[in-house]
Amino acid sequence: MRPARLSRSGLSTPGSSEKMMTKAAASDADLVMLDLEDGVAPSEKAAARSKIVTALTTLDWGRKTRAIRINDVTGECGYEDVIEVVEGARDALDVIVVPKVRTPREVWFVDTLLTGIEAKHRSSRRIGLMALIEEVEALIHVEEIARCTPRLDAIVFGLGDFSASQGARTAVAGGGADEDLYPGDIWNYARSKIVVAARAAGIAAIDGPFAAFGDPDGYRREAVRAHTLGFDGKWGIHPSQIALANEVFSPDQEEVDRARALAKAYAEAEAKGLGAVAVNGDMVDAASVRILRNTIAIADLIGM
Ligand code: COA
Ligand code: MG
Repeated sequence: MRPARLSRSGLSTPGSSEKMMTKAAASDADLVMLDLEDGVAPSEKAAARSKIVTALTTLDWGRKTRAIRINDVTGECGYEDVIEVVEGARDALDVIVVPKVRTPREVWFVDTLLTGIEAKHRSSRRIGLMALIEEVEALIHVEEIARCTPRLDAIVFGLGDFSASQGARTAVAGGGADEDLYPGDIWNYARSKIVVAARAAGIAAIDGPFAAFGDPDGYRREAVRAHTLGFDGKWGIHPSQIALANEVFSPDQEEVDRARALAKAYAEAEAKGLGAVAVNGDMVDAASVRILRNTIAIADLIGM
């Protein structure tokens, strides 16, 4: 099963900056995450809540998924972040990103709090959740986390914090190791585990940000690795990273045309009682059609 909304790119934007939130609203990101956590100084956190409410309710966000990232719910700010922003923004908010998840408990806390707020406001519209997998404990529990509530839309691999939690030696926050020291992808295990858990739960898998915004090749390399494993998108911390993510996570027109042609040929063959069919030197059967349908589904969402 593939997720119902586009999540090729996400832009993390500090909720303390009205200027950057205005810029984010005008960007081409599929999702914008207005941050209350690590992108905001402790002294600015309380003020950022109302700035986020104003931005959500007054700016034109187009078709973007409008998300906020709250603080760790085991700390002093997290619960009030949920209450203040949800009660202030109401229908202008789509998703809450829960950081530093370790087990389903942190997700359930926000899930239950939202159920209460929605009951108070007689709201039938349900705000979604995304869980950041950025602690080693979360990776151990990722299969339980991914299926812990129907409110969960996605799990997101938070590479920066995860590197710190694991004690990995990366060249850049959100990047891999120095290729001279460790050829190969040090994140293959974590990414594979995350994408399998997400797919099994029927939700999206999203790769987290890459700090070196002056290194587009490094960003693209990480995005391609995640895309190849089956991730739906990658987040960024700078507007210049959005076009890179949109490009890597969108199929090209030739790929889409080929997928549609092969799927059609297979449907015609099936109607004639055949299980496999040859098209231009390629074999199409039920398994290959499943792969093609993934491409067609994303193309349909993009409107290609
Ligand atoms: N969201 C929206 N707009 C952003 C942005 C972001 N994440 N990052 C930069 N911009 C804007 C800048 O305000 C600037 O706008 P302007 O041209 O109207 O002046 C423009 O994009 C170009 O930015 P640039 O000058 O190259 O970078 P900067 O020095 O202003 O900012 C950072 C660099 C790293 C401080 C900034 O990108 C940032 O704060 N990123 C988000 C950090 C974050 O979310 N951290 C949590 C990580 S998960
Ligand atoms: Mg983090």
